[in-house]
Amino acid sequence: MSQQKSFSSNLGAIMAAVGSAVGLGNIWRFPYICGKYGGGAFLVVYLCFVFLLGSVLMMSEFVIGRRAQHTPVKAFQALCPKHRAWGLVGLLGIITSFFILSQYLVISGWTTGYVWNAASGALAKLGTDPVAISDFFNQFSTSQWTPVLFLCVFALIVLAVILGGVQKGIENVSKVLMPVLVLLVLVLCVRSLTLPGAGRGVEYLFSPDFSKLTGEGVLAALGQALFSLSVGMGVMLVYGSYIPVNDNIFKTAMWITVCDTLIAIMSGLAIFPAVFSCGFEPTGGPGLVFLVLPNVFNTMGTAGVVFASLFFVLLMVAAITSAISLLEALTAWFSEHTHTNRWVGALLFFVLTTVLGILFSLSLGSLSHIKISGLTLFDFVDRLNSIYLPPLCALGTIIFFGWVMPEEDIRDEMSNHGTLRIGYFRLFRFLSRYVAPLALLVVLVSGILS
Ligand code: TRP
Repeated sequence: MSQQKSFSSNLGAIMAAVGSAVGLGNIWRFPYICGKYGGGAFLVVYLCFVFLLGSVLMMSEFVIGRRAQHTPVKAFQALCPKHRAWGLVGLLGIITSFFILSQYLVISGWTTGYVWNAASGALAKLGTDPVAISDFFNQFSTSQWTPVLFLCVFALIVLAVILGGVQKGIENVSKVLMPVLVLLVLVLCVRSLTLPGAGRGVEYLFSPDFSKLTGEGVLAALGQALFSLSVGMGVMLVYGSYIPVNDNIFKTAMWITVCDTLIAIMSGLAIFPAVFSCGFEPTGGPGLVFLVLPNVFNTMGTAGVVFASLFFVLLMVAAITSAISLLEALTAWFSEHTHTNRWVGALLFFVLTTVLGILFSLSLGSLSHIKISGLTLFDFVDRLNSIYLPPLCALGTIIFFGWVMPEEDIRDEMSNHGTLRIGYFRLFRFLSRYVAPLALLVVLVSGILS
């Protein structure tokens, strides 16, 4: 039954999953959502969701995927043949991945565009004037065809990499370049923290003021935790089916969770000190990173141009590895169901998500008059992708995992057929049966009601 590919080494599987988790979610989305919902208090709630919920969900997706050796829909059906309707949870994951990829392409397009803007010296010309930098970004992101062009360039790169196959493509790219990106973010932290008045940014991030926290902020923290860890959409389930049999699922998931979270916090440390020092607002919205970082680069003198170019190239690579894994999940699902060549699925979803992405991109400018329940298309899909679809799919997954799948199978999978000690199992079981589903339910219902 198993036709799934497996990664060549344990490190390969970990690095590929880290490559999937680490992306624009950490460096672009975390600072802007954290800034929008109050800084430190948001961070505390976010960390709770990441470790009590996100990591548990990641393990459950890994276990389901590796046990079933199938893509999302069939995986649920294979593990519970009597109630094939569980396959719907998998389908919801596929739909979620589809919308996330479409939106992801827009921001990835901006990143690609900023590689160009940095290398051509256009960013350097703006100096350290917050108004000029903001105007430049607004003009860029709302203009009609420039972002679309860069979006297409990015999507084509992703397509080219994915047609190279799972192992070569994903493993090699993420193994080499992720550590370099982390290094650059560290350098940015140092630069940002040594700007005059940087202390206020550190305080904003690390001294929580709970009076600033709203219900919406809690919901956003959950959405951000799921988004950043790539859980609640069946993508990690597909990765689980590639994890080698002797790999320790608990350890792998913990590593990914910790790395992903550290990178998000580092990104916050690179952004917020500069936000306050350079005179921006932490609530600057989706453009925050594209406003603040050019300002930081421009305080670095001539080296800034090289550094900025390198940074946006690497951010683009991080976005590529994430986009690949989304397209990979869609492709694997499609070819398992239709028995067609991988090319067909990859091309089909490439075209569909690119077209949708173009629409979302235009909705920030020339199509901004089109509204769905008062939101532009872009804002609408952003809500869908963070607070509705992933929590719903996550809830289905965790209920299946906690209440439907036989406990013996889970033990067997997490202990690698009895060869690993799993002292954490009772706590893990408690989290996955009670804490995680309840938390998801409460947050989801309150989200829908508000
Ligand atoms: N986690 C990715 C990031 O932080 C974004 C993402 C969300 C994702 N869902 C995904 C990536 C599913 C791969 C697969 O940028």
